[in-house]
This record gives sequence, structure tokens and C-alpha cells, in this order.
Amino acid sequence: MSGLVQLGGALPVVAERPVPESGPMHDGFGRRIEYLRISVTDKCNLRCVYCMPEEGLPWLRRDQLLSYEEIAEVVRVMAGMGLSRVRITGGEPLVRRDLPTLVRKIRAVDGIADVALSTNAVLLGDLADELRAAGVDRLNVSLDSLRPERIDAIARRAGSAEAIFRGLDAAERAGFAPIKINCVVMRGRNDDEVADFAAVTRERPWHVRFIEVMPTGDNLDVSRDEFVSADEMLESVARVGALEPVAGPPGNGPARYFAFPGARGTVGVITPMSHNYCGTCNRMRLTADGQLRPCLFGSIQTNLRDPLRRGDPIEPLVRQTLRIKPERHWLVQGSDEGSGGLAALSQVGG
Ligand code: 5AD
Ligand code: SF4
Repeated sequence: MSGLVQLGGALPVVAERPVPESGPMHDGFGRRIEYLRISVTDKCNLRCVYCMPEEGLPWLRRDQLLSYEEIAEVVRVMAGMGLSRVRITGGEPLVRRDLPTLVRKIRAVDGIADVALSTNAVLLGDLADELRAAGVDRLNVSLDSLRPERIDAIARRAGSAEAIFRGLDAAERAGFAPIKINCVVMRGRNDDEVADFAAVTRERPWHVRFIEVMPTGDNLDVSRDEFVSADEMLESVARVGALEPVAGPPGNGPARYFAFPGARGTVGVITPMSHNYCGTCNRMRLTADGQLRPCLFGSIQTNLRDPLRRGDPIEPLVRQTLRIKPERHWLVQGSDEGSGGLAALSQVGG
């Protein structure tokens, strides 16, 4: 089919499977798809060691990016197919100008019940109130350490920590609660802070999710040499106190959650490497340049941008993408083969 692009890579061939031709979106494995992650830019104001190289990546040109109106059109079409929840990601979404305008456009779409945003919080200090007013329901913030000098070292940008803490405060003042914190755990950089993060959840309504680092083309050293498994993270937390499994905050992502009795927040683990969570996958991804991806990793994506710009219907392309949604990702530790040629997660919205 002409809209399909294979990025290459030595992945299992993905076969088409039949899907319902009308009504709510289901993939060929019977999974109901109701969640879209939308990357609005591939650029970022940080250079996290597990994400992109210090010198950055070859960025997309402006004319390659979907406009806010084009993104809203994709959301309208998919909402008609049962999409109900959206998350805005990047790169760093707040580096794209006037993001609240996109939030308002998405909010105005019938059927969209929940709009969330993933950010590194550097620019959140000045934007939290406006984003809240525009209709962002929930925030995920990347925070890999509680210690300012470590934050700056991992992000490879001096002064990040100060801006991030200001952003987090502004978010709490703007009424975002609970806030989910994403912490990528790396040996020798922040693995000794797992218990400290967990302790914070006793006092603050933070849902801290520890993430196993995933291999991509640009982080092979870090993802191989500094990998910490979720089981090991949970052992560190257990040293601070006994944890109980809990349901966790709304938004049913791939995390498993636990809490200290009486705590205001929770801790969770996201285990892309050691426990595969693909069986309950409910999502697809839209890249900043308008490629619809059925899986975070893998080599398959459908070009929606050019058909959209020609005025062609995109619903058939969305159904086609559902037919080829793979059963699971094929990441293998120490290799970027499973990532299907991805240099960094910032290219597909994390
Ligand atoms: N492995 C694990 N998590 C990653 N993120 C970005 N790159 C990786 C990686 N290689 C996380 C960021 C952010 C979220 C969007 O994805 O920390 O919290
Ligand atoms: Fe930017 Fe997020 Fe990548 Fe860090 S992990 S460089 S904040 S996109």
C-alpha cells in the first residue's frame, strides 16, 4: 500500500490481520485502540544522556511538521473512530510556539475526554496556568534526579534543575494533581535515589514511575552499561518500607503501581525490557511529521501528512495501520535492532 513506509531494520515481517472495518478501532489482536500520543516537535531544549546526542539530531524542517490544524484534523477523524484520549509529547512539546492553541483545538473535538501532556518542565513555569486553562487535564514530568547538579549533568544543560523545579511548583499551583513523574533509572547516575524518590511520595501527591532504559541507536552505551531492572528498583524501594500494590492514578498506561500505607502518592515501574506489557496496548502514535505509528518501536508507519495535504480521506489509512499493528515490540538489550532504526525516542514521541 502506497502510504506505508518501511524504515528498514532486521525485524520480523509484520503480517496484515483483519480488523473491524467500521466502528471503534480495534487492531488485529482484538485490542481496542482509544489513545493517541501526538508528537508536536522532534526538538528539545535538553540533551538527556539516554535520549539524544549532545549535538542534537538532524531536525525536521518546518514545512515537514503537521500544522496545528492538520493535527486537529487527524484527531477529528480518529475521534470518529472511537479515539477518546490524547497525549501531547515531543521532543519537548513546550518548545513549539503557542501550544495552548493546539490544546484548545483538540479539546473542541467531540469525543475527546482527556488531554494529557508530557514535558521536561523547563518551560512550564511560564506556561502552566495557560495550559491548564486551555484544557490540559494531566501532566507527566520527566525528572531523573532530586539533586540539582545531577539533573543538569543527566540533561547536559546547566541551569535545567532550577527551571524544572520552578515548573513543577507552577504546575502544582495551577492545580495539576496528581502529577506523574517519569524517572529513567541508570546505574551510577541516579540508581541510588530510587528510595529518595519513593520517600517523597509519602508527603507529595506525586506518582513516580521508574523506567527501564530502552535501547535506541543513539544510546547504546548507556542502555547496555547502565541498565537497571525494575525488579532491582523495587528491591531498593522495599528497603525504605513495605509497599502495597495499588491501582495507581487514572490514565492506565503500562506502569504497575505500589504505595506506602498512608502515602499521598505512589511509585510505579515501567518495564519495557524485563516484563512485556504489549498485551494490553491501547495506543498509536502520530509523529511530528504526520506519520501514524502502530508501535513505539518497529519499522512501520503510515504517512498521513501527504494524503491530508492532498485532501484525500485518511480514515482508510488509519484502518490499514490498525491491520499491521504488531503484537509486541522486539527490543533486545544491548542492540538497536528492535528499535527499527530509531536514533532516539524523541523522534517518535516517547
Ligand atoms: N528509555 C527509557 N525512557 C526514555 N525516555 C526517553 N528516552 C528513553 C529511553 N531510551 C523517557 C523520558 C520521558 C518519556 C517521554 O520517555 O524520560 O519521561
Ligand atoms: Fe528532551 Fe525528553 Fe529527550 Fe530529555 S528525554 S532530551 S527532555 S526529549
